Amino acid sequence: MPFFDPLESTFYGHCVERLLTSKDLAPLLADGIVELGPGTGRPVVEALRRSGSRVPITGYELDADSARIASRATARAELGNYTVVQGDFFAATDKPGARRHGDPADGRKAGVVDLPVGPGGGAAVRRARCAIGNPPYLPAVARPVGASQLWGGHDGAHVARRVLSQEMDVVLLMIASISDPVGLVRHARAAGYRIADWSVRPIPFGRYSHQPWVSRRIGELARSGRAFFGPEGYLLAGVTWVRDAAPAGAADEPDDAATVLRRILTAAGSATSLDETAEASRTAGARRRVRIASGLHEVPNRPASRLSGSG
Ligand SMILES: C[S@@+](CC[C@H](N)C(=O)[O-])C[C@H]1O[C@@H](n2cnc3c(N)ncnc32)[C@H](O)[C@@H]1O
Repeated sequence: MPFFDPLESTFYGHCVERLLTSKDLAPLLADGIVELGPGTGRPVVEALRRSGSRVPITGYELDADSARIASRATARAELGNYTVVQGDFFAATDKPGARRHGDPADGRKAGVVDLPVGPGGGAAVRRARCAIGNPPYLPAVARPVGASQLWGGHDGAHVARRVLSQEMDVVLLMIASISDPVGLVRHARAAGYRIADWSVRPIPFGRYSHQPWVSRRIGELARSGRAFFGPEGYLLAGVTWVRDAAPAGAADEPDDAATVLRRILTAAGSATSLDETAEASRTAGARRRVRIASGLHEVPNRPASRLSGSG
């Protein structure tokens, strides 16, 4: 079933818009963007509409229904620069024919994708150097029934780690405080990425997180210091990384934005089970207390608070 969550998907769209309007990153986006899992396509359609960006984006969607719906959404929007293809993002980005091994002008080996450009897709190709996505991040030891396309492996960060291993120049991913955020930020640094921009917002637990296999695993991760949440839910961050170094040795160099983001995501809460948080949220009033960064802030239910920063 196509995934669309009014809070999460809209937030993802805002993060994409932020990327598309970044003057600093514009040169790295000009050759196109590849997207993992457009879902309904609405987040990127809205981001392109609001930003007016003409950067070509190709979305790869595994789920056939979602791909069909997203293709319809892009056609209706008449944007011309957003194409949705049904298929595995990694099969496309790893496609040997699309790689340019040994290109003397550019030593990049992976993360190179041919993108159709111009009316009708044309014969010309460009290489995308930027990947975006709101990847599946539900942690569970086995694929959760009814939410298989949202499964992020044992710790929820498997798909995000895979994208960050593609050697793109720019990567924008949504990362969740319930899915080993510290390990993921560390992985990105080890892969040579530095955080250029981030935004964070709270997300209440939905029906997928309450599935027994998922909620049990979230509790296990929390008890081992790899998931952070409270009665209000967890935190979701839209993080833009730029690759600035060869992987070897990069992890030793400080990245101040990563330090700040790590502090914020680990401050999402210290609950260790979803049952405990369900009880607490039943007793909460109309106003929620959201633990963010350095303390507790009173925030109204709407509009939801957000924090953001740049590297
Ligand atoms: C959390 S949903 C996000 C959907 C949409 N981007 C949004 O934010 O509303 C993740 C999406 O990624 C898709 N997906 C998961 N793994 C994929 C892969 N390897 N290649 C392409 N799509 C994938 C799923 O089918 C799902 O639609």
